[in-house]
Amino acid sequence: MDAQINRFLELKKQRNAIVLAHYYQDGVIQDLADFLGDSLALARAAQNTEADVILFCGVHFMAETAKILNPSKKVIIPDMNAGCSLADSAPAEKFLKWKLEHPEHIFITYINCSTAVKALSDIICTSSNAEKIVRSVPADKKICFAPDKFLGRHIIKQTGREMELWEGSCQVHEYFSEIGLMKLSKEHPTALILAHPECPENLLNYADYVGSTTGILEFALNNDNMEFIILTEPGIIHQLEKNASSKRFIPVPHANGCSCNECPYMKLNTLEKMIVSLETLQPEIILDDNLRLQALKPLLTMLELS
Ligand code: 13P
Ligand code: SF4
Repeated sequence: MDAQINRFLELKKQRNAIVLAHYYQDGVIQDLADFLGDSLALARAAQNTEADVILFCGVHFMAETAKILNPSKKVIIPDMNAGCSLADSAPAEKFLKWKLEHPEHIFITYINCSTAVKALSDIICTSSNAEKIVRSVPADKKICFAPDKFLGRHIIKQTGREMELWEGSCQVHEYFSEIGLMKLSKEHPTALILAHPECPENLLNYADYVGSTTGILEFALNNDNMEFIILTEPGIIHQLEKNASSKRFIPVPHANGCSCNECPYMKLNTLEKMIVSLETLQPEIILDDNLRLQALKPLLTMLELS
């Protein structure tokens, strides 16, 4: 492992590369990253870097976002198959049909979507700014929200604002076990429950805090409680334990009792693949420039509003 890490660091320097990583990556990747963050923070970091190469350790839509925001950089991803079930739930042709059926609506789209869907949207949002973005739309305007119906429902509850919702969800957050959560809550009665808004309402109803991965991290670090039940992908527990080693963080199992509470796409990235990516500068994110410019507009609107 040490030899691999040394090889990685040597290549990173040679390539003048920056490593951006999401909190759902394996601990070893998180520890090697130059910047760790939620989707919003990663988009901002991608916009501002001076490096020649961005090695994006996350999923495909996140790496595409980096390329949309910073086209002069080479953006590479360790595994091109690192997709996202939520992004896949909104194919661009179906989304366009939905848009044509709602000509008077403002289209707010969660960042977990393809570049083509971003290009058809009016404003992008992430889990850390969705409420603010929805509140920014004048009250007399109707809203269509895609692709995450659970995040959409949560925002409707928070804002009281009616929205048309796309029928999409994340295969990880949808299926955390409610029974498992109740059992953990009974076993750890003082633990606070911190949840990601991609979870369905029946799970969010138990939560003491609902927020993005960065929101969950900040809440747990700033709160005096010593135990927390973490209702999101357990990769974030690496960062929680690193920053608050005296506190206890408990993951919630999947409804089937398997390890599907881990995002299978995020976990495709490995140190071995990161080394190959830096050696070959592949797989690279390539975007059609017209599409990129159309997708840039709603992303910049989001960054201005948040
Ligand atoms: P965050 O923006 O909260 O990091 O969420 C991204 C994601 O894909 C959650 O499943
Ligand atoms: Fe997509 Fe869900 Fe994985 Fe997040 S956890 S990247 S929403 S599949």
